[in-house]
Amino acid sequence: MEVNTFKGCIFDLDGVIVDTAHFHYLAWKKLANQLGFDFNELQNEALKGVSRKESLEYLLHLGGLHFSEVEKLELAESKNSHYIDMISNLDESALLPGAKKLLLELKDAGYKIALGSASKNARPVLESTGILPLFDFIADGNSTSKSKPDPAVFLIAATGIQLLPCECIVLEDAQKGIEAAIKGGFLSLGVGDEIALGQADHVVPNLENVNVNTLQHLYNFPIHSTIS
Ligand code: BG6
Ligand code: MG
Repeated sequence: MEVNTFKGCIFDLDGVIVDTAHFHYLAWKKLANQLGFDFNELQNEALKGVSRKESLEYLLHLGGLHFSEVEKLELAESKNSHYIDMISNLDESALLPGAKKLLLELKDAGYKIALGSASKNARPVLESTGILPLFDFIADGNSTSKSKPDPAVFLIAATGIQLLPCECIVLEDAQKGIEAAIKGGFLSLGVGDEIALGQADHVVPNLENVNVNTLQHLYNFPIHSTIS
């Protein structure tokens, strides 16, 4: 019996490794409030994993507002400066429970590790939380303009660690991220709400109890069984 096994992991950043998803939400809310309307957490679910540009389009649609392309660039910049203010004191304490331990275990066990994030701020966030050296490859919002659910950022990450999509587990907290993983032919682990992420191969509430053994157990599966 041959066993098909994963050889690497592609991590989303915001909401999987680092507790920054809430700051993205607060920064969009601040911008919405400045533009004269409110924006709540439920509405924010649709923005998880989505690029800054597309998130702004969605927000303006919610507010029923229209701006020129130049004005939109300024608004996106304004949201980003709210976000950067909010993460200015980021350190290791912003890492979500279990994330660093899992990264270290995977590295020790010889698995490849990549980032697959929509954020253009990914590198500074990894630097300030001290985990940048744990990554073999970074694919982020600067690597592609295609936003999840397009699988582009994960495909770039897989190429960067020289693995096929079917050899990588994508770890994601966003519905659109799981959709992207499935479209790209990746294995997927939803990190968060079981109902929202139900399309994933498996879902865990967070990374606290996830270790290399758990992943090996969940994702090593027989591909040919011969009956003798
Ligand atoms: C994703 C977040 O990781 O990055 C989104 O889930 C965010 O909320 C997107 O909009 C883009 O981030 P940034 O830092 O480039 O504005
Ligand atoms: Mg995320």
